[in-house]
Amino acid sequence: MPKTRKPPDPRRLGVATRAIHGARLFPQRGPVAPPIVQTSTYRLADSRDAVRYAAGDPGVLVYSRYHNPTVGEAEERLALLMRTEKALLFSSGMAAISSAILSVTGSGDEILSTPALYGGTYRFFRDVLPRLGIRTRYVRPDRLEEIPRMTSRRTRVVYFETPTNPTLDIVDIQALVRATRAAERKHGKRILILADNTFATVINQNPIALGADAITESATKYLGGHSDLLGGVVAGSAHFVRGAHTMLKYLGGCADPFAAFLLLRSLNTFELRVHRQNSSALALAAHLEKHPKVNFVLYPGLPSHPHHVVACRQMSGGGFGGMITIEVKGGVRGAVRFCDALSVAVNAMSLGGTETLVSIPVYSSHVNMTAGELKRHGVTPGMVRISVGVEDLEDLIADVDRALGSL
Ligand SMILES: Cc1ncc(COP(=O)(O)O)c(C=O)c1O
Repeated sequence: MPKTRKPPDPRRLGVATRAIHGARLFPQRGPVAPPIVQTSTYRLADSRDAVRYAAGDPGVLVYSRYHNPTVGEAEERLALLMRTEKALLFSSGMAAISSAILSVTGSGDEILSTPALYGGTYRFFRDVLPRLGIRTRYVRPDRLEEIPRMTSRRTRVVYFETPTNPTLDIVDIQALVRATRAAERKHGKRILILADNTFATVINQNPIALGADAITESATKYLGGHSDLLGGVVAGSAHFVRGAHTMLKYLGGCADPFAAFLLLRSLNTFELRVHRQNSSALALAAHLEKHPKVNFVLYPGLPSHPHHVVACRQMSGGGFGGMITIEVKGGVRGAVRFCDALSVAVNAMSLGGTETLVSIPVYSSHVNMTAGELKRHGVTPGMVRISVGVEDLEDLIADVDRALGSL
């Protein structure tokens, strides 16, 4: 290769190219697929390396809980994909969320969150943070203008998901950012705006471009995309990610190199998969909306969705995601019968895979919640959450029709 060839700036490339190549654009020899550096520790040339490490030289690798080249390659690609300075890969989405939150909060601090959250996140806020003296308050997504009043000088984080799990509510990101910046001016304090972007993914919506400070995401879902790995991402400024990395080192939620390899492989088809899931979900949602055995369909791409206009504005990447929630006739018994009658879609609790997955929120993401909490989260017993895969659409439609016919 002539040395004069100048590589393009990776930040200027399209989302699929960034997901596939990351920063590996300069002509260089080596394997096309990234090597798995499956080691816990690293040989030092001699003890001068240890001295350099102790002095903070990032070029000296010592231990895979701190740094690993396969994990590092995934992190570099994720940062480019999400358009943040840095990204950090964790062992799971919950490891990412908990470490990110704990890296910026301490005893006496507060978090303000929207109430409809993934159950694990909500239970972490409810059951763990109060023991550390960290209180969470909840602001309704239709009352975001109350953020300045509901925050104080103790508020460190404004946290949200959109679309929400499993009710697929839309939080207006720009309105949330505007109200939070007004709160900062009122209290004279910086507040970190942290978005869980698991459902939309950066293909459909980039919270950073809409003014948020940082992203968390369960890489177990669409980023991984094949129901075969666990992972979590924190992405944001170099300063914020450095703090999250310190917490990763203390709490130990580091990603395994093999999981990082699987994730890198998955990123090559990330955009393709998400676009297919977007279009199949829209078609399936429109079909289900007309079905007499379905009470209602929640999908932000349908004009009947109460926040469709906001969704169109902020999910500007080409689609509304692959998640649909329906309520079937017959309450929880109807939901169980529907799930048990499916044969293409798989009855399984996760989401974002190539296979269509269904689950009943009151038995999965929202288990162990009181009737009052379920009501606040908008979860009903007859709800079924559908994570649309990449199978043939006609087969999926025939499968749900057969199962609904059995009700
Ligand atoms: C929106 C959302 N965030 C975070 C998580 C947690 O991710 P993980 O299961 O990888 O820990 C989930 C899991 O379902 C989720 O749905």
